[in-house]
Amino acid sequence: MSVIRIRGLHSLEGNIRIQGSKNAVLPLMAASLLHSGTVTITNVPRIQDVNCMMGILEYLGCSCVLEDHSLTIDTRALSAARIPDQEAGQMRSSIMLLGPLLGRMRQAVSRHPGGCSIGKRPIDLHLSALRAMGADIRVEGEQITASTPGLAGTGIRLSFPSVGATENVLMAAVAAEGTTVLEGAAVEPEIEVLCRFLREMGAQIEGAGTDTLVVHGGVPLHDVTFAAPGDRIVAGTYLGAVMAAGGDLLLAGAPAGHMEQVLAVAARAGCQVEILPEGVHVRMEGRPKPFVLSTGPYPGFPTDLQSVMVAVAAVADGTSAIRETVFEGRFASAKELQKLGGHIIIKDRTVLVEGACPLAGKEEAPREAQAKAGDRQEVEVQAKAGDRQEVEAQAKAGDQQGGVAQVEARDLRGGAALVVAALAAKGETVVTGCEHISRGYEDICGDLAAVGAEIWMERE
Ligand code: EPZ
Repeated sequence: MSVIRIRGLHSLEGNIRIQGSKNAVLPLMAASLLHSGTVTITNVPRIQDVNCMMGILEYLGCSCVLEDHSLTIDTRALSAARIPDQEAGQMRSSIMLLGPLLGRMRQAVSRHPGGCSIGKRPIDLHLSALRAMGADIRVEGEQITASTPGLAGTGIRLSFPSVGATENVLMAAVAAEGTTVLEGAAVEPEIEVLCRFLREMGAQIEGAGTDTLVVHGGVPLHDVTFAAPGDRIVAGTYLGAVMAAGGDLLLAGAPAGHMEQVLAVAARAGCQVEILPEGVHVRMEGRPKPFVLSTGPYPGFPTDLQSVMVAVAAVADGTSAIRETVFEGRFASAKELQKLGGHIIIKDRTVLVEGACPLAGKEEAPREAQAKAGDRQEVEVQAKAGDRQEVEAQAKAGDQQGGVAQVEARDLRGGAALVVAALAAKGETVVTGCEHISRGYEDICGDLAAVGAEIWMERE
């Protein structure tokens, strides 16, 4: 098991090259199964989720070669349709193989997908859409068994713009005979990327980038080489790092056009943001101003950066309010931040954060009473007395083991948020549960150490 150690309070100066996007690459890997041939994806991040998806594809009979950041998948020998239990249990994106496997193999077997525990994460929208396209799907306990005599295009309306369900339907529709009209589709940038990838393979798709996608299926596909975009969530994480710790960073390759809400919130919080041809230049002096935000499906503020912004708010100059509307249970790291002296109250889906300056790492310093009286009253009024007592008790108890603050990553983005908070904490913080972080960040320690942070990974 590895841990990340961070000694905070160093400002961040320099350039970070932003890795390729996990949430773009995973569906592209799944979509490669639609074609019998070779697909090459460049700018692929070397992360655990990509390894896991490669493992599944190899188990199914494909060959995968990842050299530097270029991944070549040969799908000609695809021979199995059963996703191995262990990998399905590790990664939510395994569900995205259902559509392509039904399309190419006419069957698919999987256990219920695992992944970050950030809420209930049902798969009803995936299953009902695939059923509408002619799949017979049985769910027995954890096991999902699907088969079809051949998928057929149809009209589908999603009741919520689920990213994964949109991707699954899109891929199934490319393999289906006839036309599929998908309404209420998610419009996350990664879906537009998937549409572009499929079109470059020969698929006929209209409406990319909108909430209505029209797919004329059954068209033969061909080999393709395709470059994945920069990861907007990783870029947002490092933006959060500079907001919390201060400094001046060029986020090279950050997809600014897909970060509008994030950059707007950063600017409101006092971060200077400049969009350049080579990326996004961000500069932060002093503490962030408090802010209010609510997550939402794209183009709203991404839920994947909610935890990071809670970490930023924990050092802001006043009280911030952050509302999560996508995943009902994405607050594990907010609770952990209390161990660093973060003054945080979670009420329903809103996190109220009273900024402290700085957070406490090794010194075990209690939170300094920096918040303005007015802010404090607002928090007090909004929290029930009981909630408040519980929060105070947890904050005081802390988890200071042997003088070093220890916090545990329980999900991918929440883990990254703890790293961001530790960069702005006095003394030393140990982040455990790093396996969650390496699912989506290629080298968070190397990236941040290269711009001045005192951060390293240690095997325990
Ligand atoms: C994708 O997950 C991303 N994962 C997530 O990134 C991201 O947080 C999420 O979209 C929202 O942007 C990948 O792209 C691989 P959803 P996905 O289906 O597709 C409910 C990260 O940290 N829902 O849009 O699983 C669901 O419970 C991750 O990189 C149903 O009710 O998200 C949730 O409340 C984690 N029924 C909401 O929709 C369904 O059948 C959004 O989920 C499907 C979803």
